[in-house]
Amino acid sequence: MAQRIITICGDAVTEMKKFPDASFRLIAADPPYNLSKNYGNNQDNLKFTDYLEFSRSWLKEAKRVLTDDGSIYVFMGMRYISYVYIILEQEFGLYFNSWITWHYTQGTGKTRGYSPRHDDILFFTKHPQNFVFNLDAIRVPQKYYRARNNMQGANPGNVWEFSHVHYCNRDRKQHPTQKPEALFERIILASSDEGDKVLDPFVGSGTSLRVCQQTNRNATGIDINPEYIAMTNERLAEKFSGFDSFDDRVNRNTMQLNLFSCEME
Ligand SMILES: C[S@@+](CC[C@H](N)C(=O)[O-])C[C@H]1O[C@@H](n2cnc3c(N)ncnc32)[C@H](O)[C@@H]1O
Repeated sequence: MAQRIITICGDAVTEMKKFPDASFRLIAADPPYNLSKNYGNNQDNLKFTDYLEFSRSWLKEAKRVLTDDGSIYVFMGMRYISYVYIILEQEFGLYFNSWITWHYTQGTGKTRGYSPRHDDILFFTKHPQNFVFNLDAIRVPQKYYRARNNMQGANPGNVWEFSHVHYCNRDRKQHPTQKPEALFERIILASSDEGDKVLDPFVGSGTSLRVCQQTNRNATGIDINPEYIAMTNERLAEKFSGFDSFDDRVNRNTMQLNLFSCEME
């Protein structure tokens, strides 16, 4: 079947209400964190309780449109993540899988306290055991050649180190919180199969949809700002020359064993 990549301009909750139950295998959501970012036509500075109510309303729809074997990843900043965790687990009965820390290595400096260097991503599933997890698709190079290591590569673990897409990067768009494609690549390869339907309710500059396009997934992206929907459509039409955080160590021969060091063990 032909691949379908759909962009929708509108409010995430209103648009999700139009989808049938159980229509997406994976939801990868990077909502506004309520940190007063300037997203053009929308405000990112709700009152504390209003932000939690907003989170509850889109997560309720997200759970409904997720397949019974589906997975949801929610990006979140420190201020609200524990509350969002409680909504996902205690209010909506989803199953916790992983708390992923994205360590972005550089960022703004603080002089009274520690400079922030991570965002976090909550990974929950709708069923406790029945969900997709393609570990072989996301293995990373082992640190050492050793006979007892799986030289196909290691599990990437739950701390992911990728730099931001810097303003000088040729792939940087005019969006204040563009995420590296590598984050979505790992999520999408691990938690969906080719041909699956993936939803991003807050698509921004189109990072998730670009990854879905290049990894043979069907995808729907929603954003309330028409300029970001236009940006996403333009990005999807650009010539592809590799993901923006490509690590060329993945091309090395992972089956090579350094026999000398193995004999020494
Ligand atoms: C954190 S950004 C997403 C960034 C995206 N992951 C990327 O890599 O470019 C959040 C996005 O949510 C959008 N947004 C805010 N409120 C929304 C709502 N109620 N419905 C849909 N989109 C919304 C903003 O316009 C913004 O582009």
